[in-house]
Amino acid sequence: MKKITIAIDGFSSTGKSTVAKELAKALSYIYVDTGAMYRAVTWYAITNGFISDKKFDKEGLIKMLDDIDLKFKFDEALGYAAIYLNGKNIEDKIRTMEVSKLVSPIAEISEIRSKLVAMQKEMGKDKGVVMDGRDIGTVVFPDAELKLFMTASAEKRATRRYKELLDKGHKVTFEEVLENVEKRDYIDSHREDSPLVQADDAIYFDNSNLGLENQFERILSLAKRRIAEV
Ligand code: C5P
Repeated sequence: MKKITIAIDGFSSTGKSTVAKELAKALSYIYVDTGAMYRAVTWYAITNGFISDKKFDKEGLIKMLDDIDLKFKFDEALGYAAIYLNGKNIEDKIRTMEVSKLVSPIAEISEIRSKLVAMQKEMGKDKGVVMDGRDIGTVVFPDAELKLFMTASAEKRATRRYKELLDKGHKVTFEEVLENVEKRDYIDSHREDSPLVQADDAIYFDNSNLGLENQFERILSLAKRRIAEV
């Protein structure tokens, strides 16, 4: 059976990564969470004093790009690959509100995008990959055989993210999460380099009123059909 490339793009907290992980598992494909890579660079920038809610030393961060080594390693307990920054597992550091608030300005920087996009292309070069992010179907794999674009209302997405954060014991308010979701949507879709846009050939899914399980079955059968066609 030939392997294909599956690109999943969309706004934050639309269930992209849940669908991507399940799809990769069902097809025995590799799953790559590109958001984790931008979050890891943000964590590096925070811990090395390049960014905070008061300052942003862009040029300083760009100069240090060669010092940022990112790797994914499969984690049995998680059931997917955890992200490592300079040899350290930082999976539990990157999903906080602190990182969520600073990641979109970091992801606007072209030098950072070029570095991460090159790594993403390398990870998917043999196909058999499900990659989720904002620019996968438009920039990273414009020739992907299957492209999905996922969205849902901002309220629905914020509600999901808020629940997830509370379950993990984070102290956040719903308003704070909603504001972050809306801010990131705006920056991600208005930036100059690789803005979030739906690729012409992507299939559009709005799951505001649909359970993710229903959606997954539809997406899996779409993927199987595309695999049979190539
Ligand atoms: O997917 P996730 O919400 O974890 O992504 C975090 C942020 O990383 C996004 O809001 C966006 O700013 C950035 N990102 C990006 N391009 C990608 C993946 C994520 O700009 N391919």
